[in-house]
Amino acid sequence: MSLAIQIQQNGGPEVMQVVDVAVGEPGPGQVRIRHKAIGLNYIDVYQRSGLYGLPLPLQLGMEASGVIEAVGEGVTHLRVGDRAAYASQPPGSYCEQRVMPGMNVCRLPDEGSFETGAAMMLKGLTAQYLLKRTRPVEGLEAGDFVLFHAAAGGVGLIACQWARALGLRLIGTAGSAAKCELALANGAAHCINYSTEDFAARVKEITGGQGVKVVYDSVGKDTWDKSLDCLRPFGLMASFGNASGPVAPFAPGMLGNKGSLYVTRQTLFSHITSRERTQAMADDLFAVVKSGQVKIHIDQTFPLTEVQAAHRALEARQTTGCTILTL
Ligand SMILES: NC(=O)c1ccc[n+]([C@@H]2O[C@H](COP(=O)([O-])OP(=O)(O)OC[C@H]3O[C@@H](n4cnc5c(N)ncnc54)[C@H](OP(=O)(O)O)[C@@H]3O)[C@@H](O)[C@H]2O)c1
Repeated sequence: MSLAIQIQQNGGPEVMQVVDVAVGEPGPGQVRIRHKAIGLNYIDVYQRSGLYGLPLPLQLGMEASGVIEAVGEGVTHLRVGDRAAYASQPPGSYCEQRVMPGMNVCRLPDEGSFETGAAMMLKGLTAQYLLKRTRPVEGLEAGDFVLFHAAAGGVGLIACQWARALGLRLIGTAGSAAKCELALANGAAHCINYSTEDFAARVKEITGGQGVKVVYDSVGKDTWDKSLDCLRPFGLMASFGNASGPVAPFAPGMLGNKGSLYVTRQTLFSHITSRERTQAMADDLFAVVKSGQVKIHIDQTFPLTEVQAAHRALEARQTTGCTILTL
């Protein structure tokens, strides 16, 4: 049996309940993992609230680290006793122990702690595919400006550091002066407090009226319109989240009026559909962390059984960097 966090219905943090679930043996392609730490992600909030509709009852959580206890037929990249970490579907990482598909589970490098493993997989692989594979048609070169919203958050702080390592000039946004300081200390070239400043006007100022080549927008509803005004002609609007609510439908004609812009809606789960691709992205992440160019900031830790408080803090914009749940 394993302690797990389950919801019977969608709603606020209070719908999350501690339950005991049976854990069986892994079938073909599966592994059984005993968790050491669990990553908290904003997608957990969307799945809990029902914004992303999934069948109920639902065990939440998309990211964790731990020790492999058993491997099913056909799993060749992991052995019993391996230290491992993952970002993976289906949800269910909020637990002590689980059976799950092995495809997205990666061996942790020797120098990586379980805490770092649990914090960095979903957020780090997201920063990886955004900065390396979600690029404007005119490409990205050292010195180019990009705009990255919620720059002091989990994905944001990793992206600030990785962008600096790539030579990009990342303009961050964040909801307070203290969060802006944090983003700047982690590699953002500029940071705009979007709760007090007009970020589109400031972006124009910073870029000498040119605008940025790409906007990475996980805030959604509140930032969408102004973000389009931050782009240069042929720039890319890369939407990848909805922390403030989903983006409203829009008429494509306005993309022409604003400079023949491109729009994409990205999700990590389109990028990690094969073992090889997952491992290549993870190797890139592990290397940049090992080099010291990206540090994983675990700024909040909650016991798994206090997951309601963790969700409340995340939704109230009280967190910075990564948050983990401990066992
Ligand atoms: N598509 C993908 O592949 C993918 C993968 C990972 C994450 N994501 C998305 O990326 C975003 C960041 O994820 P994360 O887990 O690292 O979370 P996070 O950035 O640590 O937390 C979300 C942040 O969004 C900002 N925010 C702006 N308006 C908000 C509002 N109305 N309510 C709550 N927060 C608001 C807050 O920062 P400020 O106070 O500074 O505004 C908050 O701290 C989320 O939208 C998530 O869904 C997408």
